[in-house]
Amino acid sequence: MSDVCTSRALTTPGATVLENREIARGTFLLRVDAPEIARRILPGQFVMVRGPGEGSDDPLLGRPFALYEVRRDASGEPVSLDVVYLVIGRGTAALSRRRPGDRVDVWGPLGNGFGPSPGPGEAVFVAGGIGQTPFLALGREWLGQASHGDQPRETGTPVSAATLLYGVRSADLLAGVDDMRRAGIAVEIATDDGSAGRPGFVTNLLEERLRSGEKPAKVVACGPPPMLAAVARLAREHDVPCDVSLENHMACGFGACFSCVAPIVQDDGRPDLRRVCVEGPVFPADRVDWSKPSH
Ligand SMILES: Cc1cc2nc3c(=O)[nH]c(=O)nc-3n(C[C@H](O)[C@H](O)[C@H](O)COP(=O)(O)OP(=O)(O)OC[C@H]3O[C@@H](n4cnc5c(N)ncnc54)[C@H](O)[C@@H]3O)c2cc1C
Ligand code: FES
Repeated sequence: MSDVCTSRALTTPGATVLENREIARGTFLLRVDAPEIARRILPGQFVMVRGPGEGSDDPLLGRPFALYEVRRDASGEPVSLDVVYLVIGRGTAALSRRRPGDRVDVWGPLGNGFGPSPGPGEAVFVAGGIGQTPFLALGREWLGQASHGDQPRETGTPVSAATLLYGVRSADLLAGVDDMRRAGIAVEIATDDGSAGRPGFVTNLLEERLRSGEKPAKVVACGPPPMLAAVARLAREHDVPCDVSLENHMACGFGACFSCVAPIVQDDGRPDLRRVCVEGPVFPADRVDWSKPSH
């Protein structure tokens, strides 16, 4: 295994798969031996992973996955990184067949990541579907339990509490809830079918909190675009700062193909297309033009 520097991102061709196990229905935790990327990556940044197909290069393109967690050795040195992914199509299905000892190509860290901790108030994370994945590392960082990256940067004031509002279609899709709770992140669940937590949309949980007068220091959301648009609207109505992490389709992951663009409102008030893989994936919610589809 060797890490090759390409601009600010590193490529780890043939990174060893250390673990790849199903943790919820169709949802896998992949641990890869990529210590240099693990050392640099920040919460909210992502890596592209390409699991070579059986005997071929199919699928040729990597697939983007958010940092779930950096694994460290006894001295605190980053040694590997975890992503959690839902099997959707060809790329993730091929990845789910990788076994410990197999090789995958990994490149990153990519994207901007989340900003400094907005403490001392509370952070509220809102996740829909597989959108919970960035919030373990972010919660640890904002609660002051872990720091990420190898460059000096502004880290802000730790938050007093972090809560994840987590919505999925049904209970068997819940992934990583115990990890979140162990990290001190409170978790409230909503399911479409009522099989766990509150029946209905996760945005109802946010709306109730905001209507009751709660004023989080920041709301951060990741999930399907309609959910993100609803969270952005609620945050705006209740005057709460809000960031969203977009999950647009990506091909290259480093700014070359423009397949990932989203309409982002510029300083002059006009929307312009921006590459989510470079300028994002994290944007202030009030900078996304929600009237235009970005997928
Ligand atoms: C910055 C970023 C971070 C991400 N982090 C995670 C993560 O941590 N865990 C995770 O499970 N997924 C994450 N995703 C989404 C993940 O990359 C896609 O699910 C994956 O690329 C699908 O690949 P595939 O080959 O299995 O599906 P494909 O065969 O490429 O697509 C199958 C179907 O799914 C649709 N599809 C593909 N990608 C997306 C998407 N991004 N949004 C909506 N529909 C899509 C396609 O249009 C097609 O209909 C992230 C995406 C981005 C951009
Ligand atoms: S994925 Fe190629 S420019 Fe963003």
